[in-house]
Amino acid sequence: MKGIVLAGGLGTRLLPLTKITNKHLLPIYNKPMIYYPIQALVNAGIKDIMIVTGGNNAGDFLRLLGNGKEFGLRDISYTYQEGEGGIAEALGLCEHFAEKEKVVVILGDNVIEKNIRAAVEEFEKQPSGAKIMLKKVPEPWHFGVPIMDGEKIVSIEEKPEKPKSPYAVIGIYFYDPRVFEIIPTLKPSRRNELEITDVNNDYIRRGAMRWSELDGWWIDAGSSPDNLARATQMVIRTGANRLD
Ligand code: DAU
Repeated sequence: MKGIVLAGGLGTRLLPLTKITNKHLLPIYNKPMIYYPIQALVNAGIKDIMIVTGGNNAGDFLRLLGNGKEFGLRDISYTYQEGEGGIAEALGLCEHFAEKEKVVVILGDNVIEKNIRAAVEEFEKQPSGAKIMLKKVPEPWHFGVPIMDGEKIVSIEEKPEKPKSPYAVIGIYFYDPRVFEIIPTLKPSRRNELEITDVNNDYIRRGAMRWSELDGWWIDAGSSPDNLARATQMVIRTGANRLD
């Protein structure tokens, strides 16, 4: 399975920190944010990785990460997203890289405590379709939120005012090659982006979506200055994911 880290977008929720750099290059404890999702993929056994960057600082990713020697990788693939057309648009740029293999996609600002190797292995065995991971959170309205019927996901609402479950859809997604047929059919949302939630709802409508609950803590570190600080505190406090 191939791995994709999405690190495009403008990071406006972290201004002025993101005025002169990409949010995924900001520090969490002693490393730039992007190190954490890359390490999460590597820890899960993924060796073939593409990074989607964007904006004015794309060259800095190459200077920072090079061919991924620090992560024990042979090389890293890069591609460039013009503008901020959404998570699904960024993923669409990886079709050529995926070469019709399954992919695991991680958002460049998501930091997790524990290894997702088991989820990766489960998806290897899943014959087709997609898989998402859920986490119970105190404020689900900031995220994609599933509507559940028992153990089944009926649909996902993106940042609903009145969430219908206590779960957030976290930024780690597993897809079969069909995802690259779904993305071109999407229409831009109210925030003028191609939404990953619409991709996931397509799989749900076809009965092809599975899910599991994420073990350990998870932080969407790029969503606010508070969460950026919290990510550093969690890494220090728990020692988890400490990249030293
Ligand atoms: O963190 C989990 C949440 O991520 C999910 O619960 C939501 O369903 C999902 O839509 C997403 O919500 P956010 O509003 O937090 O996404 P954000 O705009 O912060 O983008 C997350 C990452 O995706 C960002 O770190 C870089 C990448 N991205 C984003 C956009 C908009 C791109 O590569 N290109 C883009 O155009």
